[in-house]
Amino acid sequence: MKTLEPSMLAALAPREDFPILAREVHGKPLVYLDSAASAQKPRQVLEAMENFQRTSYANIHRGAYTLSEEATAAYEGARKKVARFINARNVREVVWTRNTTESINLVANSWGGANLKVGDVVLLSEIEHHSNIVPWQLIAARTGARLAYIPVTDGGELDQEAYARLLETERPKLVAVTQMSNVLGTLPPVREMIAQAHAVGALVLLDGAQSVPHLPVDVRALDCDFLAFSGHKMLGPSGIGVLWARRELEAMPPFLGGGDMIREVSLHSSTWNDLPWKFEAGTPAITEAVGLGAAVDYLSALGMEQVHAHEQALTAYALERLAAVPDLTVYGPPAERRGGVCSFTLGDIHAHDLATILDNAGVAVRAGHHCAQPLMERYHIPATARASFYVYTTAAEIDALAEGLMQAREIFAL
Ligand SMILES: Cc1ncc(COP(=O)(O)O)c(C=O)c1O
Repeated sequence: MKTLEPSMLAALAPREDFPILAREVHGKPLVYLDSAASAQKPRQVLEAMENFQRTSYANIHRGAYTLSEEATAAYEGARKKVARFINARNVREVVWTRNTTESINLVANSWGGANLKVGDVVLLSEIEHHSNIVPWQLIAARTGARLAYIPVTDGGELDQEAYARLLETERPKLVAVTQMSNVLGTLPPVREMIAQAHAVGALVLLDGAQSVPHLPVDVRALDCDFLAFSGHKMLGPSGIGVLWARRELEAMPPFLGGGDMIREVSLHSSTWNDLPWKFEAGTPAITEAVGLGAAVDYLSALGMEQVHAHEQALTAYALERLAAVPDLTVYGPPAERRGGVCSFTLGDIHAHDLATILDNAGVAVRAGHHCAQPLMERYHIPATARASFYVYTTAAEIDALAEGLMQAREIFAL
């Protein structure tokens, strides 16, 4: 079995920071292996939100009184933290949304609605989450644009030869791909893919739902055009997400209309606020933005290189541990080309049954199609169970997973 460095056996972040990890499930210590769905929050995030609610909460931007000014400063301060975290050129490139899904819908409706026409192609991939497929289907139906897909190899990677061919033959207007698969953990070579797309005049949207929480992501180094991600997968609260977009895209029309996104309104027409507020209609998730700011502080203090290294070490360990479980199939690339996600099936046991047995042992894994039905179809499987890792995950928790799987084999007499 692979030996881990002693420092890698432990969690990267102090586990005491995460109150929920101290609880038990079915009389067993909780082993939380579902961070790819939603991460747990450290007390620093919980306290930042509670302190804000207790001391400074008010609606933002509108009030010329102290509380509202403090709330606005906290809300806009969080935006600055996020901008620094992804190395945005300008804080105005950071738009608050509810989540990755809303960020992608914003681009599909606003940019897509204004720029796509009959016969235009949006190039996606077979490993995309439904939230990077369905918004494009909707806008394609409205505009007459067409979708094409980069195929995934048997080993779970995007077929780069096919990608180069598709760029030449389809001449897409936009390439929208994930920076990390939520099912296979695949890390496509997005830097090269972006340069290739730009060479044929296509813009690139990166789905950063899984990458921004787990890897250093630098929008300037990547040179992408849009990046979408969610607060709840990166130690922050649900209800807050981000769309980063280049300032050059200021010309995009608004997505939702209402308060705060306007400069002037008359009965029959309106003019729009500056970026980013032009895309932030109505009262936003103020406390949640503050919480996400605290989560960014927490991750930055750990160091994103260290976060990635920790998860790669755990993944290498997990792949070895799981390889020793008879009848188990793990999907996706080798550890060095994937993030901290392992999807697997065990014999003919249904993934939901497997997750229930593991839950009885205190181990929380996700089971199902993981909002990636086209990918399940590609591998001719209805579902997988998925274990995913984060800064608080330990090698001992992966041992607990492997032991739970051996118990499942016994129960199902495999
Ligand atoms: C790769 C990927 N994209 C998009 C999403 C959607 O994120 P949200 O539900 O926060 O909008 C997820 C969530 O699991 C994801 O893993």
